[in-house]
Amino acid sequence: MSQPEVPGGITAAQIEDLRQRAIAVARNAYSPYSHFCVGAALLLQDGHIITGCNVENASYRLTTCAEQAAIAAAVALHGPSIRIRAVVIANLNSAASQPCGACRQTIHEFSTSATEVFFPVADGTLTRSTIADLLPAAFLLENK
Ligand code: THU
Repeated sequence: MSQPEVPGGITAAQIEDLRQRAIAVARNAYSPYSHFCVGAALLLQDGHIITGCNVENASYRLTTCAEQAAIAAAVALHGPSIRIRAVVIANLNSAASQPCGACRQTIHEFSTSATEVFFPVADGTLTRSTIADLLPAAFLLENK
């Protein structure tokens, strides 16, 4: 039997698979300062799945977020034309973890108007949003 389709065409099974991958990669997080372990799983438009975790630094501002690590890996593996179909974020702290502002701008760079973002909220459920809703006035340079 086919999986139930949720709006946007991604199945509930795909979302759960991405969430499990985000949890798995969060176990590799390097977060000795915050002890907050984050994972992100990207589903690219061509079907590839790429993950990343946060990597902190003693110079706090050099920390890389999970979403940014995943996107950097996706570009390194698949080139500059990647487009993100969906991103699922997880953490090992049983906490809410919506993407920070910088991550929203980074996701936006490789998004379409259909790019969906899934992240845990305080009650533990996964919330579905779009990058357009999360970052309605993204910074743009038209001369790229
Ligand atoms: N963090 C992420 O990985 N993604 C976000 O969107 C927000 C924050 C990480 C950075 C830092 O290592 C820890 O969570 C606490 O801020």
